[in-house]
This record gives sequence, C-alpha cells and structure tokens, in this order.
Amino acid sequence: MKAIRGATTVDSDNAEQIRERVSELLNEIKNRNAINCDDVECITFSSTDDIRSFYPAKAAREAGFFSCALFSAMEPKISGSLKMCIRVLMFADIEKKPVPVYLHGAAVLRKDLTQKINIAIDGPAGSGKSTISKIIAKKLDILCLDTGAMYRACALKCIKEGVDCADEESVCPIIEKINLEVKYSDGVQHTYLDGNDVSSEIRTPEISMAASTVSAHGCVREKMVELQRKIAAENSCVLDGRDIGTNVLPNAQYKFFLTASAEIRAKRRHEEILASGKNVHFNEVLAELVKRDEQDRKREVAPLIMAKDAVLVDSSNMSVEEVAEYIERKLQEKI
Ligand code: DC
Repeated sequence: MKAIRGATTVDSDNAEQIRERVSELLNEIKNRNAINCDDVECITFSSTDDIRSFYPAKAAREAGFFSCALFSAMEPKISGSLKMCIRVLMFADIEKKPVPVYLHGAAVLRKDLTQKINIAIDGPAGSGKSTISKIIAKKLDILCLDTGAMYRACALKCIKEGVDCADEESVCPIIEKINLEVKYSDGVQHTYLDGNDVSSEIRTPEISMAASTVSAHGCVREKMVELQRKIAAENSCVLDGRDIGTNVLPNAQYKFFLTASAEIRAKRRHEEILASGKNVHFNEVLAELVKRDEQDRKREVAPLIMAKDAVLVDSSNMSVEEVAEYIERKLQEKI
C-alpha cells in the first residue's frame, strides 16, 4: 500500500468548479500512477477553510470511486498559507514509487516533489561531502552524483594505459575516447570503466592523488563536465565535487561549500583507513591531503573555490548529523 500525494486549487468557492477540479486531480493521479479505482483503498481530503460549498469526497464518489473509503476535513486557517486549496492523500495498492500530482498552482506547496532540483555540495578532500551528499539525497529521495569518482576513473584509465597523469598531451587522446558510465543500483552510484564496475578499485590513495593530477587538464574537465551536466539536466540530484557551484552548474538553486581544518579532515581520513584494516601514519595522510588540496585549489581550470552564492559550512566542530540537519534546514528555507 502506498500513499499518493496531490493538491489542486479553485478560483472561487463554487460547487461546480470544486467538483471539476477534484475529479481532474483524481484522474491525473490515476493516469500518472497507472491505477484503477479498484486499486484504491481510501482517499482523504483536506481543504482550506475558504472552501465550504462542496465536499471533495462527494466529488470523488461522483468521479467513480465507489468502493473505497472517503474522508474530507477542513484545515485550520493559517495566515500566509495557499488559499482555496484542496489536498489529497490517496492510499492505493501499487508497487511502484508514487507519482505526486499538483495542479493549478498547488505545486508551490511541494517544490521538492514537483520540480527538478540540483544541489551542489563542493569542498576539499575529507570535508565530509560524500557522506553528507548521500544523506541529503536519501532524505529527498533523489540521486547523488559523486563527481570525484568520475575523475578517479579517468586516472585509473590513464594508469592502466601506462600514461603519466601529469602529461596532458598523452592524457587527452585517452580521455577523448574513454568509455565511462555512471549507473545506479538501489540509489547507489556505480562507476563503470570499459564496462567494468571500478567503484572499489578507484578508492586508493594512489588514485586519489592521480585523480587530482588528471583533473587539472582542460580536456578531462570538459569531457566530465558534459556528462555531469547531462545527468543533472535529467535528474534531481545532489552533486558532490570541487567546481559544481562555480563551473558545472553555476545556476544551481542550492549551493553549499563544506570545509573543515586540514588536521580534522586528515584525522577523519586516517580513522577511515585504520577502520578498513590498513595501517598508515597520520602525518602521511595529512601531507597527502594538504598536497591534494593545494593542487585542486591552484589549478588553472575550474579550481576549488567557493561560489559567491554558496552557503559555507565549516564542519570542524560539527558531527555528521549536525551538518546534515543544518543543510536540510537551509534547503527547507528555500525549497
Ligand atoms: O572527491 P574526490 O576525493 O573523490 O575527488 C578526487 C579528485 O578529483 C580531487 O582531488 C579533485 C578532482 N575533482 C575535481 O577536480 N572536480 C570535481 N568536481 C570532483 C573531483
């Protein structure tokens, strides 16, 4: 059983229009979710207190919902809320993810459900971008694109071809023909190189450094940015990277720049590495991180800098939960 959300508005408290708009809303919900009246167990309606001349539930009966339970209620008068609005929750026996339907201006109630949203989360290595991006994407039920994974796959390709990642002339022809795909399984990103899932193989310190080096070349960025923009144009998603808010999606509606002191970031990385059973000295992790930051910040093409309109989040003294809550709150203020 799933709950399908929807809402519509009327221009005036007119019984005929209420009947028509409710019928239209229910039909749209049926069509967009490919269901029949018989699949529906129950429909509840709530209307703002300026709608008094007709019960939405009665309109549902008239629209052919004969066997399901129906209920209408009136909402309290809340100042500033959308006027002349009828909301619906339809409980139906469907397998697929419900498609919400908002008609006649009611979409303003739920922009997160009805509009495509792109959220840019940029920042240096170890700032917690990828953890936070995944949490936010899961909360909003949208995709999470780890753009770093794409540069890591480019680095892996160059290494496999025996090419020095710093040598732009040798790198460009390889990246020009690269067979790189990003796929999702149960909402989790998998990065494919030449048809093979390399998602684990690209998570080594060697690849981290090589990705930073290879990502400085214009030809590599051009190719990756094109792919990233295509994914962002087709899907609501959180994009985690270095140049999303400044270069990939300068018009993204929501931009965050996550950072923390180098020591704290290195400490987090160090703990991750130790937890994975490997042993490495803290100073080594710190040195690698500082070197990579410098390389990412100082490169000529799309360097790591904060977009002017991004929200800065310094997570040095914040837990993962606190950062996620803060970002969610900021999103709610804008969505
Ligand atoms: O986020 P990460 O550590 O997986 O990224 C690996 C490298 O890729 C990083 O050091 C710089 C580069 N990168 C980039 O230049 N632009 C992005 N949008 C993402 C990553």
